Amino acid sequence: QIALGLVILAIAGAHFSVRSLRGSWRLGNGNGSLRLPAEVPGCAHTALHRRGLVQDPYYRFNDVMYRWISLDNWTYSRTFKTPFDVRKWQRINLVFEGVDTVAHILINNVTLGTTDNMFNRYSFDITSVIKEVNFVEVRFLSAISYAAEQSRCHTAYSIPPACPPPVQKGECHANFIRKEQCSFGWDWGPSFPTQGIWKDVRIEAYNYYHLIYFSLTPFFGKSTQQWSLEIESIFDVVSSKPIAGLVTVNIPKLQTQQTYNVKLQPGEGSIVLLVNINKSSTVEAWWPNGHGKQTGYNVTTTFIMEAGYKIEKISKAYFRTVELVQEPIPGSPGLSFYFRINGRPIFIKGSNWIPADSFQDRGGVEGCDSFGRTNCCGSGSSD
Ligand SMILES: *[C@@H]1O[C@H](CO)[C@@H](O)[C@H](O)[C@H]1NC(C)=O
Ligand SMILES: *[C@@H]1O[C@H](CO)[C@@H](O)[C@H](O)[C@H]1NC(C)=O
Ligand SMILES: *[C@@H]1O[C@H](CO)[C@@H](O)[C@H](O)[C@H]1NC(C)=O
Ligand SMILES: *[C@@H]1O[C@H](CO)[C@@H](O)[C@H](O)[C@H]1NC(C)=O
Ligand SMILES: *[C@@H]1O[C@H](CO)[C@@H](O)[C@H](O)[C@H]1NC(C)=O
Repeated sequence: QIALGLVILAIAGAHFSVRSLRGSWRLGNGNGSLRLPAEVPGCAHTALHRRGLVQDPYYRFNDVMYRWISLDNWTYSRTFKTPFDVRKWQRINLVFEGVDTVAHILINNVTLGTTDNMFNRYSFDITSVIKEVNFVEVRFLSAISYAAEQSRCHTAYSIPPACPPPVQKGECHANFIRKEQCSFGWDWGPSFPTQGIWKDVRIEAYNYYHLIYFSLTPFFGKSTQQWSLEIESIFDVVSSKPIAGLVTVNIPKLQTQQTYNVKLQPGEGSIVLLVNINKSSTVEAWWPNGHGKQTGYNVTTTFIMEAGYKIEKISKAYFRTVELVQEPIPGSPGLSFYFRINGRPIFIKGSNWIPADSFQDRGGVEGCDSFGRTNCCGSGSSD
């Protein structure tokens, strides 16, 4: 069963502060011959094009002409003033929603860590290194060099395909890097394995505790004939002692309200709550397009902790069961492969979405990563 949740975060009280570092950064190449302003979110190719340093990468054979951009090692940097009084916060993090892909992250010349997955969010604790004025750097390594090196180091067995067909003029070993796979070239698109910061970057600060992840998953109990909702919350607790409190989950439309005693331990940890939906309420299921309505229910989850502040999450729960049916077919080899939604077999049809632009910052479409897939570029023929 798949979780669906539309989440709006509302926080009461000044226990959380956030400042985006989007906007103007500096970009430089490996040997320092090129230095230019660059927007974040953005990438080396679009920054160079915007400044008129390269032509439209899509023009004629410019994908081949501009291969040097992806072979170079680029660095994004900027200075920023700390937007709040550092002494008032127990924890200050530098958070990257999306780094493409292999980089060392430094602040004030101190290495915070490394990144190697375009699809991950990275959070670095900068509480002890942040100053009034700061210099942040993201030092990239060419994705092509990294993938080649990873492949060289992997000697146990071969992982095909090593390289795309020569006619595609792509790069080798895309399967050795957690990066949008089509950026190394595909049958429908050019090869631009770029480097850049493709999503938001921000500084966030908090005291006591902070909710970093929240999800809802519906379940239907066959024996009890009852719907329930599993609510998972991951917290970072920065106080040295456990924090106790109450969590209330309210689904007004389903006459369901439950309160739980919880205790959050210091450090990062999760709490999982199981909410049983009131049996005397009728749950309207969610149906795929064309098979019924997509009914959703508002869920309000309120955390009231002894540390003194309240977090309220308003989200939407969709109730449906999903089964993948693989069973013998009389008179035929192999097994079936189809989905049953709310007990009804459904023919899942659709089409294959490829990225609308080789450069995520121009495409304006985040269809790829919203599914958390590492290869968002499946070819038409295989789907
Ligand atoms: C510096 O890098 C650029 C771009 O990759 C390259 O064209 C240039 O030849 C390099 N300069 C030196 C001195 O290596
Ligand atoms: C990029 O960095 C790697 C690793 O340090 C190095 O081997 C490579 O020569 C660099 N490429 C350029 C164009 O500077
Ligand atoms: C940054 O750190 C490196 C070594 O880690 C050092 O060589 C360099 O001088 C430092 N630069 C500044 C500006 O502090
Ligand atoms: C279930 O809903 C009914 C109203 O339909 C209400 O009277 C009852 O208290 C609810 N039960 C629980 C456990 O909330
Ligand atoms: C559900 O929540 C949304 C957003 O807060 C609100 O606009 C809407 O009216 C709510 N729906 C119901 C049925 O309460």
